[in-house]
Amino acid sequence: MNTAVAGFSKLSKEEKINWIATTYFSSPTKAIELIKKYWNSDEKLQKLHDEFIENTISNFYIPLGVAPNFLINGKNYTIPMAIEESSVVAAASKAAKYWSTRGGFKATVIKTEKIGQVHFMYKGDSSKLELFFAETKAKFFSETHDLTKNMQQRGGGILDITLEDKTNLLPNYFQLHATFETKDSMGANFINSCLEQFANILKKEAQAYKLFTEEEKDIEVVMSILSNYVPNCIVRAEVSCPVADLSEKHIPNPEAFAERFVRAVQIAEVEPYRAVTHNKGIMNGVDAVILATGNDFRAVEAGVHAYASKEGQYSSLSHAKIENEIFSFWLEIPLALGTVGGLTSLHPLVKLSLEMLENPSAAELMKIVAVAGLAQNFAALRSLTTTGIQDGHMKMHLNNILNQLEATEEERHLVQKHFKNHVVSHSGVVSFVESIRNT
Ligand code: MEV
Repeated sequence: MNTAVAGFSKLSKEEKINWIATTYFSSPTKAIELIKKYWNSDEKLQKLHDEFIENTISNFYIPLGVAPNFLINGKNYTIPMAIEESSVVAAASKAAKYWSTRGGFKATVIKTEKIGQVHFMYKGDSSKLELFFAETKAKFFSETHDLTKNMQQRGGGILDITLEDKTNLLPNYFQLHATFETKDSMGANFINSCLEQFANILKKEAQAYKLFTEEEKDIEVVMSILSNYVPNCIVRAEVSCPVADLSEKHIPNPEAFAERFVRAVQIAEVEPYRAVTHNKGIMNGVDAVILATGNDFRAVEAGVHAYASKEGQYSSLSHAKIENEIFSFWLEIPLALGTVGGLTSLHPLVKLSLEMLENPSAAELMKIVAVAGLAQNFAALRSLTTTGIQDGHMKMHLNNILNQLEATEEERHLVQKHFKNHVVSHSGVVSFVESIRNT
């Protein structure tokens, strides 16, 4: 079947849907019905969502849950989480409650520096380029003033610009490497606009530079773009308490629990296969809050995993120790976030999520997100090193299986009762429901 289409973006929404439905579906009417079922009845709201991206045909729901009882630096938060995976919100809530009676979470923003680069090719004497850069540097600041004045008023702006010689990596390759402070905005547009202006200044000034030969004047700018690797935009989240205080119903022997927990973290520190899954658990918490607060989870994911490899081998983002009978568990992650601009002022549920968090600054949001990641990691390791993950997970998953089977209220009740004392498995639930239906 040839499904190529010309001029698709020019079609109306209705025409796009009709084309999709008649091209791909045996029952176009049913497909159109489903697509439209997810439209919002509030036309204005739907239009807003339609215009976030291109070629929108419908909305794709992801649940928005909340995890209460997060005590962070002495203040209580209910954290909004947008995530489709069952048991993540429950795990976060459980970890939050557990630590709320053990001193809560502490979080500190270590640095908030963002990075952008102009990548360019220069064929010539590098010492002349260095001289040119030293003489021109001030212009990169003064000739971007129109772009930076508002940001400067908010306490941000361009922090520094350096010339980087990368010819050991690629012949003729140099960079303008710039650092920025973008306060409460994620800053992508601000940084990229500044970088494109730097590129123009670079080309213009090189053309006019008397010491350059004709070839040296001909700087080729390859691209100007921010970096999502932000190792100097870092937040730390931690919990700690006396080992004996770790005790509770499911932790009868806190010393043994603490030791096994630390061992589990050490395994993730030294073994990449485990480290990836360990960090995935952290990102369950991080991404859910990132998404709920309208931030860019792809940017955060890319940056966080690069950071996890900063020593040359992919490793755990979190660490744990027992020292002087005190258990400590912490993580440090790079997070370039915004609480103003972008989707934060457009998406009604993002606004709601931010208001639920009492309209945090970007730095406060960094702390909240890092804590959500640490809580998630704690909950996962606690299950893994005690009951095993499937116990809680499958209980939560039970609901999804029952939805798939379109179970009635009565069937649900019988299933819940039965699986209180039986191991939950997909096939086990299916055959139990079938057995009820056949009696
Ligand atoms: C599942 O989404 C996340 C875990 O695999 C994390 C971990 O293994 O630490 C449970």
